[in-house]
Amino acid sequence: MKKKLFSALLAVALLAGCSGSTDGGEATDGGEAAGDVTTYNVGVSIYDFNDNFMTLYRNEIEAYFMTLETDTVKYNVTIVDGKNDMAEQTNQVENFITQDIDVIILNLVQTSSADAVIDKVVAAEIPLVLINREPMGTDGDESYAGILDNPTVCYIGADARQSGTFQGEIVADLPDHGDINGDGKIAYIMIQGDPENVDAQYRTEYSIKALTDAGLNPVNLYGDAAQVGNWKQENGQTITANALAQFGDDLEVVFCNNDAMALGAYAAIEAAGRTVGEDIYLLGVDALAECVEMVNNGTMTGTVLNDHIGQSHTAVDVAVKALNGEPLDNYYWVDYVKVTAE
Ligand code: GAL
Repeated sequence: MKKKLFSALLAVALLAGCSGSTDGGEATDGGEAAGDVTTYNVGVSIYDFNDNFMTLYRNEIEAYFMTLETDTVKYNVTIVDGKNDMAEQTNQVENFITQDIDVIILNLVQTSSADAVIDKVVAAEIPLVLINREPMGTDGDESYAGILDNPTVCYIGADARQSGTFQGEIVADLPDHGDINGDGKIAYIMIQGDPENVDAQYRTEYSIKALTDAGLNPVNLYGDAAQVGNWKQENGQTITANALAQFGDDLEVVFCNNDAMALGAYAAIEAAGRTVGEDIYLLGVDALAECVEMVNNGTMTGTVLNDHIGQSHTAVDVAVKALNGEPLDNYYWVDYVKVTAE
């Protein structure tokens, strides 16, 4: 997954893709004329502005670009809302290309459309930094050909297996290991994000794998089925309310693929008169500020820091590298961090 690709060709290809404009002067190839200001046009498309985590992420992209400005280098950052609509996002990318944007940072609506988008951007000789939604390879090869084969395309993200594993470990480390009623089973439900996303797939799989790896006996109250919440708070609430109505006290652990859905789950838990940490456990991912607060006061069992600062800064640093004609790796990884009351 972490194959690196450096080559002289790459530097040439990157330079060809850079066309920062110099006020009052000629367009440059990513350099800057003494005494002049070079302005780089950066195009960013986020899959959906309504997503809590991606809102933190995109605000930090913009803020961090501003900190990198100097007297002679400016970044003109345009951030657009993909509105969870791949056709809309494809239009946005096409507009970036027509506008001669110098680098594109892209949070895909649909990772299955990665190739189509990569082809367009590569053909236009614009460097492409993919973020947060990792396109996956086939046949168990997780590296993605569209990234490996294109030296001006890279992906910045966090390995979702790690976040799932941390969620499971938080439960395994509880004094009762998540088995509140002592029947030798951990009765859980899984509230899943968008099932097309590898984050949702891996968190669903690896949280449970961490429990079985610890020799525990997790049992999904819905059989093998995850309940699809598409990363949304309101869906987390409805799914949890239904599960509490159906399974009552049998439900011991609510795993949510993200914190937004865990916030919804909490509302349902509270409404049902259940108490997190006493008769039910609740897990999320992202470490949204309100959820870290809840972990501290015991109303959430644990979450996992999805480091939007580390990821957004890496994305921007890599975009700047591309603008400077420096070679890129194919993949850049940022670690998750376990968040518990301790
Ligand atoms: C995940 C994050 C979710 C949601 C999703 C969007 O990494 O945990 O909250 O933002 O990305 O793809």
